[in-house]
Amino acid sequence: DRGILRYRGYPIEQLAERSTFIETAHLLIHGELPTSTELDEWSEELVTQSTLPENIKHFIEGFQRDAHPMGMFLSAVGALSTFYPDSKNVLDGGSRQTQITRLIAKVPTIAAYAHRYRTDAPYVSPDPNLSFVGNFMNMLNGHPPGGSESQYRPHPELERALDILFILHADHEQNCSTSAMRGIGSSQADPFVSLAGAAAALYGPLHGGANEAVLRMLAEIGSVSNITGFIKRVKDGERRLMGFGHRVYKSYDPRAKVIKETAYRVFEVTGKNPLLDIALELERIALEDDYFVSRRLYPNVDFYSGLIYEAMGFDAGMFPVLFAIGRTAGWVAQWQEMLKDKEQRIARPRQLYVGENDREYIPMDQR
Ligand code: CMC
Repeated sequence: DRGILRYRGYPIEQLAERSTFIETAHLLIHGELPTSTELDEWSEELVTQSTLPENIKHFIEGFQRDAHPMGMFLSAVGALSTFYPDSKNVLDGGSRQTQITRLIAKVPTIAAYAHRYRTDAPYVSPDPNLSFVGNFMNMLNGHPPGGSESQYRPHPELERALDILFILHADHEQNCSTSAMRGIGSSQADPFVSLAGAAAALYGPLHGGANEAVLRMLAEIGSVSNITGFIKRVKDGERRLMGFGHRVYKSYDPRAKVIKETAYRVFEVTGKNPLLDIALELERIALEDDYFVSRRLYPNVDFYSGLIYEAMGFDAGMFPVLFAIGRTAGWVAQWQEMLKDKEQRIARPRQLYVGENDREYIPMDQR
């Protein structure tokens, strides 16, 4: 009710302002912020693990060029399971740590190559000299070595904005995808296939796909003058106001506030996203309208994130993939926590059957 989000006790606002994504990932996985030596070692391990097996690249190249990148992403993550049979050893702490590092390190490389492949651009290898996010941006926008193009340098303000977005998306208790990760992982399936299932849950428009849906909704509204008509359709139950509402946050979503501030810093670099005015006006009207006020519907984490992503040059299909990169930290941390819990058993929701009772099979000619 008070709009609080903390990771292991640290307020999300402080982490967004002062931490980095990989430091936050360490916090989620190990319970504490890393010392300087631990952070150096963790960064080094992530760099080492960030490359992709050659065959995974070929696997991605098997998709149609216009395939949705989230479908490519979750399929490639699941396929990694076949490259790392040691990942089946889920009860071994050392093996688990190896898979966790592999996953956090490789998901940006998969995401970047999915994006490159769709735009007919060649694979760019990870660069060990760049930060985690700087490297991701270089794999998205840079050039393979040896070409005539001038070297790409990620803009520091945009790099920081993406880092903040990854921090804000890293974990959020038992959301749909994290419950899927725990549910699949509870059968002791390996973390690659478990994470593919979690990413599938994230893909839906009511969850991580909402940021993509917000952008499409704003584009469809098209101008501020069309907002009143759109709100009416929402209130009539014909449409849903994407990026609004949350199962847990009923006063406001603290991540939305940080994202809105970040958006203004990004727009100083990229120029204002033309859809921003529609979003601001939509928010203003909705927050004064009794339909939304009485149902306690406020902007959520996805309302402004898509505007930032689009200003940075991502197409809407990539938005849930970006969400998945950040959320991977939470998924693997929760997966590990579950497996370490001695009382954990296979997930098995109880079914209360309310259908027909015991009856005789009816032959086809008597139905
Ligand atoms: N637009 C219009 N009406 C809404 C909305 C919305 N976005 N969200 C909820 N309502 C209405 C809903 O119709 C219901 O009205 P009534 O009581 O008259 O039947 C009432 O508000 C309660 O909604 P609910 O469906 O019980 O709420 P929920 O907790 O089951 O759903 C939600 C939460 C996030 C799925 C939903 O608010 C929604 O669909 N939002 C739009 C999609 C979205 O932005 N998702 C991102 C969520 S945050 C990040 C993440 O999890 O990935």
